[in-house]
Amino acid sequence: MKLSGSFKGTPFEKVFEGAANLEAQGVETYYAMAQVAEENGNEDMAKAFRELARQEAVHSGYYATLAGLIPDDFWGYVDKMAEGEIQGQDQVMELSRKVKEAGYGDIARQIELFAKQEGGHNVILNRLKTKYKPE
Ligand SMILES: [Fe+2]
Ligand SMILES: [Fe+2]
Repeated sequence: MKLSGSFKGTPFEKVFEGAANLEAQGVETYYAMAQVAEENGNEDMAKAFRELARQEAVHSGYYATLAGLIPDDFWGYVDKMAEGEIQGQDQVMELSRKVKEAGYGDIARQIELFAKQEGGHNVILNRLKTKYKPE
């Protein structure tokens, strides 16, 4: 059975959309808890929370797929995401600058790394497009 968008236009669409959002909040919460555990020097707990977060991310993506997050124009959506990643890179870099200006150098460096990762997401998406998009 085709999963993608299979519940679009049915009463399940909103249910799965809601489930996807709740699971995404779980991703956020568990990664934040991992961060706190790490801060408290408990790497074992941090590892467990990271695994919970990873599983919640899978759940979230599954429900979002059922609800039809990804349109039929898959490659068009890849382009849209690639563009968003560039904007993300610029916005996060700007945030890093502001945080640095405010005197939080270490945090600014971490956020700068995230900005570079957003740019890297763009590179990966474009690479996939070049390699796999049908002519
Ligand atoms: Fe879950
Ligand atoms: Fe990204």
